Amino acid sequence: MLISERMLGALNEQIGHEYSASLQYTAIAAYFDCETLPLLSSHFFDQAEEEKEHAHKIIKFVLDTGGKVAIPAIPAIPAPQNTFQFTEEAVGLSLAQEKKVSAQINALVHIAKDENDYTTEQFLQWFVQEQLEEVSSMEDLLSIVQRAGEGNLLRVEEYLARKGGKGAGFKNLGGED
Ligand SMILES: [Fe+2]
Ligand SMILES: [Fe+2]
Repeated sequence: MLISERMLGALNEQIGHEYSASLQYTAIAAYFDCETLPLLSSHFFDQAEEEKEHAHKIIKFVLDTGGKVAIPAIPAIPAPQNTFQFTEEAVGLSLAQEKKVSAQINALVHIAKDENDYTTEQFLQWFVQEQLEEVSSMEDLLSIVQRAGEGNLLRVEEYLARKGGKGAGFKNLGGED
């Protein structure tokens, strides 16, 4: 195995964190679909898919290093928040989640450096950059939501439409509406 047991344990934990982030974004996407805000829904649906890809990226890396993938037990993953009073609460929670993941990635980089593990350190650079982008775009979305106000959420939908949102995330899965 190319990485230490300590590094492997930390990466396996991160796989759980990425799935947990994916579940939270799925719950937020469902909430927005329910509120008839299709572009917000599909935006968060896409975020959920991205978090799953992050988990897959780490799984592939662990396998490449000859490490054993051990997805953490489900009880270790808290249930996502499914209901929100305001849009701002859901987007605010998303920003807090992205900041938390950034701290988790930084902690992994710290372990890699501590172990003189340049392979993992280099692998993690993609995640460092990705987190910068995700925190920054979620900050933008939060300020758009705050500026529009809860009574004017169609403006947020327009903003996402201009950004090229597709809408109807769950409906893209096919089946009946
Ligand atoms: Fe992620
Ligand atoms: Fe993310």
